[in-house]
Parts: sequence; structure tokens; C-alpha cells
Amino acid sequence: MNTGACDELREACELVHQHDGWVHVDGAFGLWAAASSATRHLVAGLELADSWACDGHKWLNLPYDSAFAFCRRPDVHAATMSYAAAYLVGSGGAPVGADLTAESSRRARAFAVWAGLRELGRDGVAALVDRCCALARRFAEGLTAAGFEVANEVVLNQVLVGFGGDARTDQVVAAVQADGTCWAGGTTWRGRRLMRLSVSNATTTVADVDRSVAAITRLAA
Ligand SMILES: Cc1ncc(COP(=O)(O)O)c(C=O)c1O
Repeated sequence: MNTGACDELREACELVHQHDGWVHVDGAFGLWAAASSATRHLVAGLELADSWACDGHKWLNLPYDSAFAFCRRPDVHAATMSYAAAYLVGSGGAPVGADLTAESSRRARAFAVWAGLRELGRDGVAALVDRCCALARRFAEGLTAAGFEVANEVVLNQVLVGFGGDARTDQVVAAVQADGTCWAGGTTWRGRRLMRLSVSNATTTVADVDRSVAAITRLAA
């Protein structure tokens, strides 16, 4: 997820299955690309995987530790996670929630997930994905126009930016974090230090991006 690029899932799944392997897709962030017709192609072949993980607290902006696991073999899933005791409700019968996670006692995370999805609806999730991707492209265009190097192909909501050398890029990242107009992390990609912009807040606007591009440009100068 450094760049937002996706592996060739169809090819990977077919290859692994030819060798009797299990394919797990870490879709913590990227699985939501499937919600939009503009980005769905990035995760083509996903349906061939044996299990997926996905987060609600990243792109959906739901409260922390809202996450989902999808498994082609519910029996294997339950056999892995479940523990039984004679006094536990439902123990030994058909799998219940407690048989599917490492936690027996937990709060009702599913409620916030249900409410979020119900509020957004199918179109709302797609719009959220599309909006973040469009803002990422705007970041890339603005920073390119300001003379900086966008190092990745911006296919999703991630933008990697170089400021002319590793040390200088790290300085700009530190200055941006201290400035506080926006927050961007540093990363290493293909052996280079780069600034990593990830547009993932549902409330981010065009004006926020433009203000951030101006701040980054000012700080880099
Ligand atoms: C691709 C990917 N997988 C997993 C994680 C960890 O996710 P979690 O917040 O569920 O611990 C991250 C966090 O950034 C991520 O980007």
C-alpha cells in the first residue's frame, strides 16, 4: 500500500491454487476499491481468493478496530479461532460470533459499521472512494506543477513525492508535520525516501488539498 497499486490478483490466485496453496488478501484499505466502477479493475480476481481482511476504520472512517474477515472455509475459520468450555453459551454448536475472533468479550463494533454503511449506502461508499482518489490526483497535479516529482502512478488515493534527494525529502516531511496544515508521512519506495500522501478522510475538501499543496510548496522552499 505504499503506492495504492494492486498485485495481479487473478494471476496470483490461479498460480497459488495450482500449487494447492491458500490465498489471503490483505485488503485493509484497498478492498474498498471494489466499491467504485472507476477503481474496481484494480482488484479484479479478488473473488478467487480464499480469505480477505478489510478495515472499516481506514477508508470508511469508522471507529478504530472495526475490521472484517471473510473466509471461504467457515469451518476452518472456526476451528482456528474457537475455544470451547461447557459453561459457555453456544459452545460446541454451530459457530457463533465468539468462535470467529480471538476475543470472546468485545463491544458492539458491528453497530457502528452497520450505521456507517447504512448512512453511506452503496453509492455513498463509491463516492467516498472516488472523492479521495480525485483529491489524490489533485495533490499530484498541484505538486507536479510546483516542480516536485510525483514518483508513483496515482491509481488510488496514495501519492509519493520526492523533493530532490533522501535527506531533503525527510526534511520536508518533518517540516510539513511540524507545520500542521496537513499530515504526510515519509516512506521508502524502490530504495528512495519519499513523502507519502494518503487522502483518506471523508471530510477532506478541494480547498484542503490546495491549502496543503501551498503549505508543502512554501515549506520545501
Ligand atoms: C495494507 C494494510 N494492512 C494492514 C494494516 C494494519 O491494519 P489495522 O489497522 O487493522 O491493524 C494496514 C495499516 O495501515 C495496512 O495499510
